[in-house]
Amino acid sequence: MSSDTSSPSDAPAYDRVSVTLHWLVAALVVIQFATGWVWGIFERGSDPRFVLFRIHLVAGTAVLVLAVLRIGWRLTHRAPPLPQGTSRPITLAAKAVHGLLYLAILVQPALGLLTVTAFGKSLGRWPRDAHMMLVNIIAAIIMLHIAAAIWHQFILRDGLLRRMLPARKARAAAMK
Ligand code: HEM
Ligand code: HEM
Repeated sequence: MSSDTSSPSDAPAYDRVSVTLHWLVAALVVIQFATGWVWGIFERGSDPRFVLFRIHLVAGTAVLVLAVLRIGWRLTHRAPPLPQGTSRPITLAAKAVHGLLYLAILVQPALGLLTVTAFGKSLGRWPRDAHMMLVNIIAAIIMLHIAAAIWHQFILRDGLLRRMLPARKARAAAMK
């Protein structure tokens, strides 16, 4: 259903805290992939590799803290209902992908922390192996999520993306 002519204030949208946390976590997750994939091109023991690794640990730990806050917020605040007329399979798919994304931002940094702590050493290699194995799976789920957002924006043109934009940007997008 298109709401292109209505102002975003009367269209259901995510609250400011949800929007801020969504984009903060998304930006940090991009940093996680960028650092994790790029440090390998630098020699072991070199400065750039060390800096990228440090950024990975700090930003990744921030993902875990923000994920806990975000899930806490989500459990106590309702998400806007999906546009009317959304079919049942699509609703289920959206819920499944969102659930997997929440799981990913909890489990992946937790595995990372277990990998680098002394506790991780006593656990053996499995946290590292799981962290490495999940990388591509999480990347695929994020791609699916972004593809859905692009689909809504350019094919369905139902203003779904606006629900997850800061109010000012959402207003500007509505006027286009
Ligand atoms: C959402 C959060 C995270 C994502 C998406 C992520 C992603 C990645 C990626 C893409 C790699 C490189 C994999 C490869 O070389 O093929 C990696 C490796 C690694 N990550 Fe993370 N990471 C996250 C959080 C963390 C955290 C919080 C820590 C630790 C505090 C951490 C510790 C590590 C370590 C130690 C490695 C290297 C493992 C090795 O080569 O032995 N990660 N991660
Ligand atoms: C360019 C990147 C991204 C875009 C364009 C985007 C867009 C969106 C949009 C439009 C929604 C709202 C869907 C709705 O109205 O029902 C949403 C929800 C969500 N996004 Fe993203 N997103 C991006 C990246 C990410 C990343 C990297 C993550 C986490 C790893 C993520 C996790 C989530 C979650 C968990 C929800 C569900 C919110 C809820 O209802 O509880 N997103 N995203």
